[in-house]
Amino acid sequence: MTMGGQTCRNNFPLKHALVFLFLALCVFCFILYTVDMTDEETFKLTELKKKILNTVTIIHSSVTPIHPTKPPKPTSVCSFQALSPEDSLELDMLKDSIAWPETPSVPSNFVLNDTSDPAHSTFTILPRNREKTWHIGDQLEVLIKMNDFHGRPKKSGGDVVFARLHNPTVHAGVMGKVLDHRNGSYTAVFSLLWEGSAQVEVTLVHPSEAVTVLEKLNLEQPDRIYFKSIFRSGSVSEMMTCNVCLKAPKEKLCNYTDPYTGEPWFCYKPKKLNCDSRITHAKGGFKQNLKPMEEKLFQSGVNMKVSIPASGPSNITISPKLKGESSQIVNTRPAGYYYQGVWQALDGTRVLQFNTYTAVSQCLKGKVVHLYGDSTIRQWFEYLTETIPVSGIKKFDLKSPKQTGPFLALDYANNILVTFQCHAPPIRFGTIPASQVRYIANELDTVVGGTNTVVVIGVWSHFSTFPVEVYIRRLLNIRRAVVRLLTRAPGTLVIIRTANPKALTLYETLTNSDWYSLLRDNVLKAIFKEVNVQLVDAWEMTVAHHLPHNLHPQPPIIKNMMNVILSHTCPTAGSFIQATVGH
Ligand SMILES: *[C@@H]1O[C@H](CO)[C@@H](O)[C@H](O)[C@H]1NC(C)=O
Ligand SMILES: *[C@@H]1O[C@H](CO)[C@@H](O)[C@H](O)[C@H]1NC(C)=O
Ligand SMILES: *[C@@H]1O[C@H](CO)[C@@H](O)[C@H](O)[C@H]1NC(C)=O
Ligand SMILES: *[C@@H]1O[C@H](CO)[C@@H](O)[C@H](O)[C@H]1NC(C)=O
Repeated sequence: MTMGGQTCRNNFPLKHALVFLFLALCVFCFILYTVDMTDEETFKLTELKKKILNTVTIIHSSVTPIHPTKPPKPTSVCSFQALSPEDSLELDMLKDSIAWPETPSVPSNFVLNDTSDPAHSTFTILPRNREKTWHIGDQLEVLIKMNDFHGRPKKSGGDVVFARLHNPTVHAGVMGKVLDHRNGSYTAVFSLLWEGSAQVEVTLVHPSEAVTVLEKLNLEQPDRIYFKSIFRSGSVSEMMTCNVCLKAPKEKLCNYTDPYTGEPWFCYKPKKLNCDSRITHAKGGFKQNLKPMEEKLFQSGVNMKVSIPASGPSNITISPKLKGESSQIVNTRPAGYYYQGVWQALDGTRVLQFNTYTAVSQCLKGKVVHLYGDSTIRQWFEYLTETIPVSGIKKFDLKSPKQTGPFLALDYANNILVTFQCHAPPIRFGTIPASQVRYIANELDTVVGGTNTVVVIGVWSHFSTFPVEVYIRRLLNIRRAVVRLLTRAPGTLVIIRTANPKALTLYETLTNSDWYSLLRDNVLKAIFKEVNVQLVDAWEMTVAHHLPHNLHPQPPIIKNMMNVILSHTCPTAGSFIQATVGH
């Protein structure tokens, strides 16, 4: 039907005009509705946020239609599935334990000048007594006052602050504990562990406003890192997006949830191929979706990992321990500290120095070392096979990619076997054959174990972008497998590597900020607290060291970490190597 505007309408009786209007409205509604439908394929961010806030329960239910007359939207699936009832109790406790202080809201018109500015903030060494003297075993307290870009005191907490006490001459360093008073002031507490000068260093890692943005990103864009799988059969091949959580009706997904651990993993279903034809897993990419103004909260040299100046002196002199005074180390409980660049553990472990391959091979003779995890664990494989001078542990060429492994190395003469297996998705590595995707918990179930077996696990940096539940589920699965292993083979040595801070650019921050790592590190430590495992506290070993933070800590730090591992493996190795001399 064609209508000629004015003339046509004049010929229309009112009744027809109303019918026409009604039809037009219907078409308009229909268009609106279909627009909504195509959106269905993509993440509905606000909806997802609601779901996550609803304590991450499975939401299979359809969304309540806004207009009752509209048909309900198709059932959609978010795979951030609830943990089992048995785990959810622990989940609540873990989430309480990492609850971050409330941070300021960041409205779209926020003013950077109102946010935390390290250059206008200060720290002050608090006098311990009238004489201002400190002794080994004392605690040093430092008051940190956070101000904004105008120098006005901040009234709320939640800034991410690191503190370190060090002496560059004797290469000594220890991490300080930072307490947030939630009113814009913080106290850093240090254990005093060496004699002589000690310099305080306080760093603003992120202003509290940046934490607000990082928190929001994980709620609204947990798929900002996405993954790809190639599906292939004969000459047909398709590439599909994969993730822990994909929003689509069930029938549009391939469900690769691991049958043993229940670890969820999904890909969009290929158009021509079936789900069994998935042949690879790889990191797909990163979708950044930050407002330009929000980016200002993540500026290197301005407000991201920037030193806070001292208001007065920033160093003290530590005198020898006073006779009869009880030590206060217990109050801050650092995992250890550096002296002469050598890590001294404070948990009772005597850290030995395995400086030659002879010392290493005598320690590992007849042993199997299984390394499981991410690239920070792969560094330890590389240390054993490539870094130690003239290592006799030779990598066997399995033709596997340099980044992903799996790797195997042998010292045939000394009967030493070392393996590396990377963890399963969401691993952000290059292409891994789907057949090589392994969950650590399942791998552990294949280990016989015993006094000649060392199992080393490090899983942390690929979990930052997801709700913390995803990480907690993974660790609880690994812990169950560790407990099974230790039950059937109690002599097995299990070592867990913690997270570490890294160099932060904007991209690195949005995908793996130290704030994400810090929360996950605390979760990891809490989960393995009651299990008979040894921790390598990579967090403190990195913060306490003078070398810059790096996702892959530099060789001197790796060497110290390996010496901790070998000291746990061979605690009585003192007969052929010298223990570090105490002081
Ligand atoms: C922020 O503060 C500086 C110095 O106090 C001032 O020059 C600048 O105009 C302020 N910017 C805004 C957006 O208020
Ligand atoms: C902040 O809280 C701490 C601890 O409660 C208190 O000692 C300090 O005086 C408070 N500072 C301000 C500026 O209110
Ligand atoms: C995926 O499979 C697992 C186990 O087979 C099942 O529990 C889960 O409900 C499935 N999820 C979807 C969205 O199909
Ligand atoms: C702090 O360091 C400065 C410069 O290195 C030095 O002159 C001063 O004596 C030190 N103060 C203390 C209390 O150690």
